[in-house]
Amino acid sequence: MSRARAATRVTTATGAALALTLLLAACGQDSNRGGGGGGDRDPEAEGGTIGIAMPTKSSERWVADGNNMVQQFEDAGYDTVLQYGENRVENQVSQIENMISQQVDLLVIAAIDGSAMTNVLQQAHDAGIPVVSYDRLLLGSEYVEYYASFDNERVGRLQGEYIVEALGLADGSEEGPFNIELFAGSSDDNNTQYFFQGAMDVLQPYLDSGQLVVRSGQTKLSQITTAAWDGGRAQSRMDDLLTAHYSGQRLDAVLSPYDGISIGILSSLKSIGYGSGNQPFPVITGQDAELASIKSIIDGEQTQTVYKDTRELARQAVAMSDALLTGGEAEVNDTESYDNGVKVVPAYLLDPVSMDITNYQILIDEGYYKESDLG
Ligand code: GAL
Repeated sequence: MSRARAATRVTTATGAALALTLLLAACGQDSNRGGGGGGDRDPEAEGGTIGIAMPTKSSERWVADGNNMVQQFEDAGYDTVLQYGENRVENQVSQIENMISQQVDLLVIAAIDGSAMTNVLQQAHDAGIPVVSYDRLLLGSEYVEYYASFDNERVGRLQGEYIVEALGLADGSEEGPFNIELFAGSSDDNNTQYFFQGAMDVLQPYLDSGQLVVRSGQTKLSQITTAAWDGGRAQSRMDDLLTAHYSGQRLDAVLSPYDGISIGILSSLKSIGYGSGNQPFPVITGQDAELASIKSIIDGEQTQTVYKDTRELARQAVAMSDALLTGGEAEVNDTESYDNGVKVVPAYLLDPVSMDITNYQILIDEGYYKESDLG
């Protein structure tokens, strides 16, 4: 969109500001009309209004993603409207429809269900609103300009490699057999298959050699997904697995794709005595470096997580949006990996970092958390 086009839209959006504020207030949504507090419109905020649709506040990371984007977009001279769908697809769709009818200038979307957005993306296109796909790929639509994410397959590899190393399986050792159970993310999230694939590329040879054994036999993605990435559901599944397959048997490792799931799994394990006496916890992976999991790592419960700096991800989304609204071209570093079924979406993929007790201080050094947060 040209600067002139954006400027026209801003004028319209400004005219509609009062109505929008009232509407959003009625819906309990956040509207940040520039200026960052005090309620005055920021005279610098002439870039336009960005609609930011996030999946849920129930996970700490998405709260951070939303806040980081609001902050960074405002610093770059944009207004923002931030909404959370609370893991209900229909909520998210209607929130985005509202943003379109309020004539936002651009949409940044982290979808609850990546394939449920085709209609609303068509509406955005018809209204001349470009879309940036955030963290999770939007599927089945040509109306996705850019994708900002992490190297999702690498996230899975880091989890798989951590397990291999922690159990001493690497370098042709004949250690084992060790018992492992596998968990995956939500089946409606495109990232889920990438995390799983990355991890299984590393783990499969050890399953084939018998050094790793999945006593439940549940090794297919369709058998191990966790709807809505929900820790409670993961806890129930772990309860069932322990009851059915681990009486008198030790569980040595759990592939977990996300911290909220890891915490659920840990609750299940604790309930039958892991972590006490002579029954140490299995190796348990995770993702997102959420506060609860970093504390759990410090306490010797969860073993690993994958740190993905949400501030950097927001920075990419802001740069892409800014390029789209000012007629520039955004920097991308991957034009092959993310085919959404209709087009390969040009992507910028950030580097995830494997994190455990030995290097979590990175979070303090980089100002992601304060020492006192971990207290
Ligand atoms: C994924 C995301 C992960 C994790 C998960 C659950 O899409 O890439 O980092 O946050 O959702 O929220």
